[in-house]
Amino acid sequence: MEMKTILITGGAGFIGSHLIRLFVNKYPDYKIVNLDKLTYAGNLANLKDVENAPNYEFVKADIVDAEQLFEVFDKYQPDAVIHLAAESHVDRSIANPNEFIFTNIVGTANLLNAARKLWGENTDGKRFYHVSTDEVYGSLGETGFFLEDTAYDPRSPYSASKASSDHLVRAYAHTFKLPIVVSNCSNNYGSYQFPEKLIPLFINNIRNKKALPVYGKGENIRDWLWVEDHARAIDVIFHEGRNLETYNIGGHNEWTNIDLIKLMCKVMDRKLGRAEGDSEKLITYVKDRAGHDMRYAIDSTKLQKELGWVPSLQFEEGIEKTIDWYLENEAWMENITSGDYEKYYEQQYKER
Ligand code: NAD
Ligand code: DAU
Repeated sequence: MEMKTILITGGAGFIGSHLIRLFVNKYPDYKIVNLDKLTYAGNLANLKDVENAPNYEFVKADIVDAEQLFEVFDKYQPDAVIHLAAESHVDRSIANPNEFIFTNIVGTANLLNAARKLWGENTDGKRFYHVSTDEVYGSLGETGFFLEDTAYDPRSPYSASKASSDHLVRAYAHTFKLPIVVSNCSNNYGSYQFPEKLIPLFINNIRNKKALPVYGKGENIRDWLWVEDHARAIDVIFHEGRNLETYNIGGHNEWTNIDLIKLMCKVMDRKLGRAEGDSEKLITYVKDRAGHDMRYAIDSTKLQKELGWVPSLQFEEGIEKTIDWYLENEAWMENITSGDYEKYYEQQYKER
């Protein structure tokens, strides 16, 4: 596929910044335009190493603002869109669902309209790639996996908003012949993740000897994937995935929260020179998340068989690397855990 300009939305966030880094370095002939509103979760410091690259440009824009989007599309004439911009944290969606409805649903509709307006009937070589989540499939029992044709059953305002956006993307493909592809990925971990999410939050709390707020009994299961493997999967699907198809992305790497937390405590005790068992004492069981999905597990056989993608990193190695990164990048963490973050933290955990 011959591509010129690729518009990536949400590129200043966690996964988006890894994707931008990969594309800017791997494809010098592409112009990569990063469209991001820079919400609390967007941070240009995540992209310091590529910000001066000749094939990279940042545009501050809000996907909820349709007019602004038309202007951006008019100016850059993207050949493809890879859409990651979203409100992404489940707890925030419980506290304030509307933000999720505007950004994730209306924002996605605005992007689809902008792509449709620019490309019209001439969609040769064009592609609208929608990055979604396994949470749209709901919650699994003790057995089974999410497949691409598993029925949607979202349970939180976040996952319902992502499910709505997935439906809109597919509807635009059927109704308006927009060339789309969708992927649904499991939980990502790695560097540059905002410390509202379990892994960076707990690394930061362990380092600062703060309580580790485990929701419920800690028995919920998540399927963790190294963020750079997600970015590699997006690369492969973007270039080789078939139009109108969905690809599930996951690492076959299920952990109960409590086992994962104990592993992090153990690794960090060793790295910080603390006595084994010290950090586990910080574990505090708190009120469960409302509607807390029990288990996620992805079957990514289709992606592996059709496009040859496989995860590159074992979890034990990945979590070591991740912990090292956060320990080595204390300034990055301190920069975002001041101000608004403190207010969020107090509000989120005060009643638990
Ligand atoms: P994130 O919260 O770290 O980043 C989101 C980015 O979107 C931020 O840079 C933010 O500034 C930007 N953004 C938010 N609202 C915007 C708006 N109105 N206009 C323009 N930009 C806006 O999110 P993430 O964890 O990197 O997730 C990226 C995407 O991947 C999301 O669509 C999410 O649903 C999906 N996803 C995430 C995971 C995960 O484990 N984190 C797993 C599967 C899928
Ligand atoms: O599955 C993909 C999804 O993974 C993405 O779509 C979301 O954007 C991403 O945030 C993530 O959702 P989760 O809700 O699974 O991730 P989170 O890190 O918030 O929580 C992971 C598990 O840890 C979950 O079972 C809730 C629990 N948890 C979380 C926090 C923040 C706690 O026990 N304590 C906490 O303080």
